[in-house]
Formats: sequence, structure tokens, C-alpha cells
Amino acid sequence: MAKPTIVEAFERAGQGHVFAFFDQLAPAAQKQLLADAAEIDLQEIDHLTRTLLAKDATTGLNLDGLAPAPYERLPEKGGDAKTWTAAKTAGEAALRVGRVAAFTVAGGQGTRLGYDGPKGTFPVTPIRKKTLFQVFAEKIRAVGVRYGKPLPWFIMTSHANHAATESFFAEHAFFGLDRGHVHFFRQGRMPAVDLQGKILLEDKGVIAMSPDGHGGSLRALDRSGALDLMDKAGIDILSYFQVDNPLVRGIDPAFIGWHVLRGSEMSSKMVPKAYAGEKVGHFCAQNGQAIVIEYSDLPKSYQEEIDPAIGALRYIAGSIAIHIFDTKFIRRMAVGGEGVALPFHRADKKIPTIDAAGNAVKPDKPNGVKFEMFVFDALPFAKNPVIIETRREDDFSPVKNADGLDSPRTCADDQLRQFTRWLKANGAAVPADTIGLPPFAIEVSPLFGYDEDSFADAWKKLSPKPEIKAGLYLQP
Ligand code: UD1
Repeated sequence: MAKPTIVEAFERAGQGHVFAFFDQLAPAAQKQLLADAAEIDLQEIDHLTRTLLAKDATTGLNLDGLAPAPYERLPEKGGDAKTWTAAKTAGEAALRVGRVAAFTVAGGQGTRLGYDGPKGTFPVTPIRKKTLFQVFAEKIRAVGVRYGKPLPWFIMTSHANHAATESFFAEHAFFGLDRGHVHFFRQGRMPAVDLQGKILLEDKGVIAMSPDGHGGSLRALDRSGALDLMDKAGIDILSYFQVDNPLVRGIDPAFIGWHVLRGSEMSSKMVPKAYAGEKVGHFCAQNGQAIVIEYSDLPKSYQEEIDPAIGALRYIAGSIAIHIFDTKFIRRMAVGGEGVALPFHRADKKIPTIDAAGNAVKPDKPNGVKFEMFVFDALPFAKNPVIIETRREDDFSPVKNADGLDSPRTCADDQLRQFTRWLKANGAAVPADTIGLPPFAIEVSPLFGYDEDSFADAWKKLSPKPEIKAGLYLQP
């Protein structure tokens, strides 16, 4: 058989070893290897090897002229109440005419949680043990009902969890959403390379491929046809959130309104960091542009710096990974061009591989590099970006670790506190300790109330009011 052209291309790029065992493979495995190889942009790998892997490569982080990013404060923190009200009105108008879709990045697995399966299938609510996906589905459904326009929901999966995610939704009848409004698409992959830039094989016919990071969502939205679907439906506002955060107001009228009124191409929410070393991205400004610097990259001295004028952390603005994108901006980023591209970040990892003789190698120290893009790196490319403050308790309590901080326990407690706050704000007597926790579990279905306003409206209509006691579950 003549050598496939793709094999020649790999040889020319110095990556011919990828096909070293090709002749030993069964026809199906050969076909799969060729298909996986076709996903790889050899020029891109060559460029990354020469830049990120070079001996003199720096972290790429330049701190010259770095300053904290400006942000719009909440009214109770000195922000302009009138503009916040105008923003909410504008956001509600955008929802009523159907300009908005929801977008969840769900490519990650629950590895840190010790959970085997798509992270969105992890149960999180205090009583009903609803999964992350169910919580988001019910919030999106309720927003659609409130504003009279059902919202499409785009969900980015990875190769590892795509099929399991789709079947999970099918098994649960899409949690009451119209299945025509839920769109799944897979994110792209990147090959792992060794420290010299040679593509690593996981097995004789298997390239070590991994997801290209949530930044890959921008090109995946384009490639999958999601942007075309949105164009056809008259949607130009995409509300982005991560699969790990059930507290998120995935669709927040005031946030949408700030984005619309400012003519922003990408908008973000910040919370003041809870403590100097909190593991979140930091909103910064540099050369007149907004940027996010990840906690792992920003030097400790910056993370801890106190601004003497205010007696508080200078780099206070933490990124909670909630953004709004203008769909034309996503297209522009996805298509790319001279100087328009998300950078790749390098992560050194222990990558199980095979040696030249085909024997398995289990490394005990990092032997290779994975490349990932981060979606927040799009911020400096956006026109008129706006960063708004939000209350942590209204928007952020992720489930990341099995125990301790950001765990199922802390997240369930934060939900309980939120339900308690909503009830108390509407006149219900709920016993709660000094940190706002009731002595028993209660739960509010997002279909009853998914934020302060929707809860207040539903509670007002409820007659008679239920007794607030252990096990109370409020649903429509
Ligand atoms: C992330 C952010 C951090 C932010 C914090 C807030 C990064 C690098 N950092 O940290 O700035 O303050 O969240 O909680 O993102 N995902 C994919 N595909 C991928 C990789 C990730 O879909 O290839 C999704 C995951 O499913 C998850 C989200 O992106 O929903 C975050 O990924 P994760 O790696 O857990 O980020 P964190 O380190 O927690």
C-alpha cells in the first residue's frame, strides 16, 4: 500500500515516529490513528515547540506596567445605582426578544473530586441531590418561562465524556427542556509532546491527546456550527459559565444589560478575593487592556500586595469564570488571523507512554507537556470589555475538591444559606446560626425561584405559606 500523505507530512515535520508501529496495527486501528493524526495541526505544534519548549522560553508573563483592572462596583459598594437599574432593564429586554443563549463548558472530568464521570452528572443540592446539569437545566427553563422566550443551551463536552453526557440528558428527558434547544458539541484536542517536542504515543496506535482547554470553546463553537445556529435564531449574546458552579446566575439580566449598554464584546464578573492566595484568576490592566492572570502565574508578592490608600488587597478582583460573549467576537477569535489568537499555556505532566520498542512507560516525574487555551485570554482582544462586581453568595460556590474548600459540603451549605436569605428577605422566619445556616436542610427548586426576584415573585403568590421545617422543598 502506498504511504498515506499524512504519514509523509508527519515525517517531514520530524514526527514520523507516530507511525512507527503502523504496520503492526489491525486495519481499524490504522484507520483510527490516521483520523486522530488528521486532527493535529503540525505547524501549530512546531510553533509551540519552538516558543513554549525552547530552552530560553520564559513563562511568557510580562508584568510591566501591570495595574489592577477597573470594575463596576455594586450599588452598596459605591457603584451607581441608576446605571445598575438601567442595566437590568436592558438585560430583561434582551431576554424578552430572545437575543440570549446559555453556554456551559463541561469538558472536564471530576478527577479532583474523585468522581468517575462527566462532572455535570455529580449530585449537589442539599435534599433532592439534583445534579449540576439538572440545576442549570431548571434555571435555564425557568428564565425562559419568565421572559417568554425559551433559551437555547450549548454544552461543550470532551471526547472522554461526550457520549456519557448525551445519554445522561436523554435518560432524564432533558430535565423538561425542549431537546431541540439543547446542543452538545465536542471541544478540540491537542497532542501531548515530550520535552523535545516529539508527539507522545499512549500506545502503539494511540496518540496521547487531551482537551485543548476551555479556550478551545471559541473555535469549537464556530467549527460545530453553533455560531451559525445562533445567527439564524437572532442570538448575539452568549452567557458563559463553568460546569462546577451550581450557584451561578447563568442568565443574569443586570450582567447582560451592562454588556449591552456598553457595547461590550466580552464581559466578566468579579468577586473581591476572599483572601490573598485564593485560587482564582486576577483581573488586571496592562497597556490599556483588561487581562486575567491565573493564580498560578501571578507572583505571590502581587497576590498579597496591600493598597495603602484603601488598606485592602491591591489585586482584589477575582475571576469566577462567568463571562458574556458577543457572538461576532467569538467568530473573529475563532477565525483568527495576524495577531488574533488565544495563546497556548504549557502544563508539564506525567504522561503514560511507550518507548521506541513499544514497551509501556509509567513516568514518575513530568515527561511531557500538554497545551491548553484559556477562554479569559480573549479579554484583551475584546472591544469595550466590562467587568462587573457580583456578590459571591449570589454567584459562586464551585465544587472542585472532595473535601475542604470548594467541596460538595461547602457548596451545599452555600445553597442552604442562599435559600435561607431569600426566605428571610420575604418575611419568613427561618432559624439560622451566626453564619446564616439553618439547623436543617431545605431546598428551593430553580423552577420555583432561581434568583432574588423570581423567588420573591413566587413566594408572594404562595398561599398558604408552608411551615419552614426540616425537609421543606419549594417547587411550583
Ligand atoms: C478556573 C479558572 C480560574 C477561575 C476558577 C473559578 C482556569 C485555568 N482557571 O480554575 O481562573 O478563578 O476556575 O472557579 O480555567 N474545561 C473544559 N475543557 C477543558 C478544560 C476545562 O470544558 O479542556 C472546563 C471544566 O469542565 C470546568 C472549567 O472548564 O467547567 C474549569 O476548569 P478547571 O480546570 O477545573 O479550572 P480551575 O483550575 O478550577
